[in-house]
Amino acid sequence: MKIIQSLASQIEIGDITLSSFANVIDLYSKANIIIIVDENTHDYCLEFLMTNFSALANAEIILLPEGEENKVMEVCFQVWETFTEFNFSRKDLIINLGGGIVTDMGGFIASIFKRGMNFIHIPTSLLGMVDASIGGKNGVDLAGFKNQLGVFNNPSHIFIDVSFLHTLPEREFYNGYAEMLKHGLIADAKLWKDLIVVKSDVELMDEKLIYRTIKVKLDIVKADPKEQNVRMKLNFGHTIGHALESHFLSSTPIAHGHAVALGICAEAYLSLKKKKITQEEYKEIEAVIVRNFPMIQLTDEEIKDVLEIMKNDKKNNGSAINFVLLDKIGEAVININLKQKEIGEALFHLNVLGSALN
Ligand SMILES: NC(=O)c1ccc[n+]([C@@H]2O[C@H](COP(=O)([O-])OP(=O)(O)OC[C@H]3O[C@@H](n4cnc5c(N)ncnc54)[C@H](O)[C@@H]3O)[C@@H](O)[C@H]2O)c1
Repeated sequence: MKIIQSLASQIEIGDITLSSFANVIDLYSKANIIIIVDENTHDYCLEFLMTNFSALANAEIILLPEGEENKVMEVCFQVWETFTEFNFSRKDLIINLGGGIVTDMGGFIASIFKRGMNFIHIPTSLLGMVDASIGGKNGVDLAGFKNQLGVFNNPSHIFIDVSFLHTLPEREFYNGYAEMLKHGLIADAKLWKDLIVVKSDVELMDEKLIYRTIKVKLDIVKADPKEQNVRMKLNFGHTIGHALESHFLSSTPIAHGHAVALGICAEAYLSLKKKKITQEEYKEIEAVIVRNFPMIQLTDEEIKDVLEIMKNDKKNNGSAINFVLLDKIGEAVININLKQKEIGEALFHLNVLGSALN
């Protein structure tokens, strides 16, 4: 069992039945315990928890509808109304059992109700384990824009048990893989090298790789918990990635990790165009993304829409669109303002890569 104390959270990586989870829930024997799940974690992960921890026998189960289109306030309102009906209080405990959507929303629901309930995360997707559950960002989307409403607030505990990943669909591993690659690219060239030789989802279940990826995020977030400066590095791939994810949300949604992978490729291309990374570095990044993620084709109209969405990005400074670029593999640089024309070229480059494959 690896135990890390960071950012007001105790993070335990290893078999949850050997972790302090049982002791933590014992502290709530006189309170209500609420487990938030989505449809899949209800079916695939809940039983394991209930069978192994008898103290959860009377827990209330809150089922969230699955999918990014449901990461919205309307769903939170329904949950808060249920909490009010059940008369839940700040002394109760919320356990968020699920991927990044459950931990983002469950953390938000817990943080707002009666000015803040106790909560813990048990991430069940790879993306949740290496990224979404770590760092204290909780929130929901608004009017098609990602994570527009939210709070910084850390759970008291995060339990990361890779055995939950046995039921995760293969494509979901690649969504987590995208964020792992990003962590290597922005801060740890050795991690990047070790990640790009991974050949299967089974290899991604490696606790050591997961730990090294989490460590990158924790080190950055510890230095800048509220994203005033260096934490922005974690947004590499996300300016374009989030805009693509928002663009497709109302028609044919693409997964967060897939959007981030495309964003990584486009923003690495911009890093090359700005003469920050070498041609060889860019080609290596491009090859990894093209090998592992489906490419897309955007019409001129769609490119315009994606650019429009980017103007509303939280990370912008006034009217300029603000980017994180790579200085080299393993090092990122923040606050690079780019012109729409340059960004449009990077999006067009994604099209070129897509058509080269057909
Ligand atoms: N807070 C942060 O710092 C942060 C960082 C990165 C991403 N995010 C957010 O995370 C979200 C994406 O997270 P995600 O990719 O985990 O999405 P997700 O929560 O939708 O999970 C992906 C899919 O896998 C299913 N699933 C999860 N665990 C499973 C398991 N063990 N077995 C079977 N199915 C399982 C889910 O039901 C869902 O269908 C996005 O909304 C993104 O904005 C937040």
